[in-house]
Amino acid sequence: MAEIRQRRQPAAAEKTDSEPSTTGTQAEEPEFQWLHYSTWPLSVRWAPAFVILLGVFVAVYYVNFIEQSGLDMSSLESCIGTFNYTFRVNAARHQAEQLSTHSWEIGTAAQAIGELVDPSKSVFGLNPFPKDKAPPQGLHLDQALIWVYQKIRKDDATLFEDEYSVSDPAALGVAAVMLGSRWAQFGDAATRQKEYLLDVAPRYSNGAISHRQEVAELWSDAVSMVPPFLAYYGVANNDTEMLRTAVQQCQLYRDVLSVEEGPKKGLWKHIVGPSDMADEGCWSTGNAWAAYGMARVRATISGWRLSNEVMMEEKRQLDQWIGEIVDGAIRTDGDEESGLLRNYLGDDSWFGETSGTSLLAATAYRMAVLRPDVFGQAKYLTWADRKREAVVQRIDEDGFAKPAVNPLKHGSREPIESSPEGESFLLMLGSAWRDCVCARVCAQPEST
Ligand SMILES: *[C@@H]1O[C@H](CO)[C@@H](O)[C@H](O)[C@H]1NC(C)=O
Ligand SMILES: *[C@@H]1O[C@H](CO)[C@@H](O)[C@H](O)[C@H]1NC(C)=O
Repeated sequence: MAEIRQRRQPAAAEKTDSEPSTTGTQAEEPEFQWLHYSTWPLSVRWAPAFVILLGVFVAVYYVNFIEQSGLDMSSLESCIGTFNYTFRVNAARHQAEQLSTHSWEIGTAAQAIGELVDPSKSVFGLNPFPKDKAPPQGLHLDQALIWVYQKIRKDDATLFEDEYSVSDPAALGVAAVMLGSRWAQFGDAATRQKEYLLDVAPRYSNGAISHRQEVAELWSDAVSMVPPFLAYYGVANNDTEMLRTAVQQCQLYRDVLSVEEGPKKGLWKHIVGPSDMADEGCWSTGNAWAAYGMARVRATISGWRLSNEVMMEEKRQLDQWIGEIVDGAIRTDGDEESGLLRNYLGDDSWFGETSGTSLLAATAYRMAVLRPDVFGQAKYLTWADRKREAVVQRIDEDGFAKPAVNPLKHGSREPIESSPEGESFLLMLGSAWRDCVCARVCAQPEST
């Protein structure tokens, strides 16, 4: 009987041929019909189970063996955790750690690693001062602090030995304050550094704290070293006046360095002072130091409840000053083939380079989150995306971005292959972009 039925159903014939005993009882049932399950031969009945098994296998394989490129936007943490920086961010971090030897390089690397690894504790985090205080250190120190703490000097007037510069050792100030919540020695060292800056260091004629010890001279670089530290110190010591001092120092620097008219209006000169270091040019990295430093001050003010409420005017001013620099960089951004900003903005004789480009793009992303109504516009975000892509294209397998200006010879026509501060700027660029995407201000990158 089975044989006869099978012949009428050639599609199911092969397998059931070998199992006559199980099919015997079904022989009396009606003809096979797709609509009637009970008429199906066993091999067909079992087919869905194989389909399910195959499905499970594919799912398990996909989850475990195929790299996911999808960004998980379901929470801020998952967004940060699944973010694709599109370059070798850990290689760049390694280079920043290995190459940084000067005070400002080490302080900048610590800041950059903090932004990358512990974004909730950076001043750009959503709530950087829980309980209105500097964030506490848990059982494990932040990775940036583990890396930096042995490099900070705790037994002198300043946080790092420096014969030349006033402001550079202050780049370690925020790290010292953060460490101070665990070890009082670091807090005391930060206090001495603050006192040195405010009471001992030479001042320019308008009251701006000099970048140098020997002469009163203003370098745009100093705006990334001194004001962010003073502002952070103010929060840690519940001292709103100190935050106002930080803003005032930015203002005094701007009063001297900002270009008042012409095509470079709003950009900052690099160095004004009596020495032969004076440099009227608008150094790209110098403008980035100033703009990013002010953005850090801005974020410190708005991140602390006590200053956010009473320093509306200061926030507005900082937004304006930062905007002047970013606008100037966009306006003077010429047709350099590489897409990078030139080492001196608005001067076409200069090569395009990665350091200033990275940090200025990072500034635009940071401001887009801090002031989306102004900086969240396509004018800024499209520009920042283009600059970022131009930089990322020039990051090699080892995490080096090049060509980068020689940070010790800003006027050199010879770019270098490995800039310590330039590597930290890459981390800042990656973190700033990530935080802008995760805040849903920047567009989600198209998945690849
Ligand atoms: C990250 O993005 C880059 C560029 O879009 C892509 O080539 C790479 O495969 C992505 N990496 C992962 C892990 O998705
Ligand atoms: C911080 O300072 C404000 C006034 O400036 C004061 O009202 C507040 O009690 C202080 N907080 C702490 C924890 O000392």
